[in-house]
Amino acid sequence: MKKQQEVSIKEYKTNPLQPIRVVELEETDSTNRVAKELAAEGAPEGTLVVAKRQSGGRGRLGRSFFSPEGGIYMSMVLRPAILAEKAILITSCAAVAVARAIESICKESAGIKWVNDIFIKNKKVCGILAEGELLPGTDRFSYVVLGIGINVKRQAVPEELKGIVGCLEEYIDHTILNEELITAVWREFFSFYDTLSTAVYMEEYKARSVLLGKEVTVYTADGEYKAVVTDIDKEGRLGIKRGDTEEYLCSGEISVRL
Ligand code: BTN
Repeated sequence: MKKQQEVSIKEYKTNPLQPIRVVELEETDSTNRVAKELAAEGAPEGTLVVAKRQSGGRGRLGRSFFSPEGGIYMSMVLRPAILAEKAILITSCAAVAVARAIESICKESAGIKWVNDIFIKNKKVCGILAEGELLPGTDRFSYVVLGIGINVKRQAVPEELKGIVGCLEEYIDHTILNEELITAVWREFFSFYDTLSTAVYMEEYKARSVLLGKEVTVYTADGEYKAVVTDIDKEGRLGIKRGDTEEYLCSGEISVRL
């Protein structure tokens, strides 16, 4: 396959227990697509696909993810032992890991916008997309591909997006070494991964939330409405108050805007 002839493969050490096998690509349509293909062929947990740019980067809810050169685009093959219904914990855990990794190189604090966007100073600097394949006849995954896109270089962002899309370069006064940041993300992620279902990181996820206490517009398949965000629970669901009614939303087909 052409994609595999192009790769260079090396190992990053994220912690003493978890070296990561890295497949580096100059360009691909989507690292999630490539990682899913590798996972379906039997690639082990810890296989990471990284590309310098993507021509068809994918976001949540069928959206695209603008992926010019100068960002970090990567997808990790995972084989989690958790039930499929707990899958949201993977993206919540990844959001905390990315926020921590960014803060380790950047003086600004990193917030999380439910479900999986990382914000610095009201601008999105990172998006996360997990896609899984179920083991036939079970409620467990054969694999999950965890995709993370981080905006790094300012000049890569088109003028019309500069008001809503942030880049790490804006908040850091030294050169960002992508490999250092990538390693930091996975080091943080794997520090939680073995205890994923205990959701110890959810307290931090909630503390980093940029939505708590705010009025938001909730978009569903049936329309949109306004609500106030009251909580994020241990399962990663968003607690909202709509009039006198309180309810918890699962990420599914829902999106939320401030
Ligand atoms: C979102 O903001 O809705 C999620 C964006 C996820 C983008 C990343 S970039 C690496 C990986 N490959 C993709 O095609 N998507 C994810």
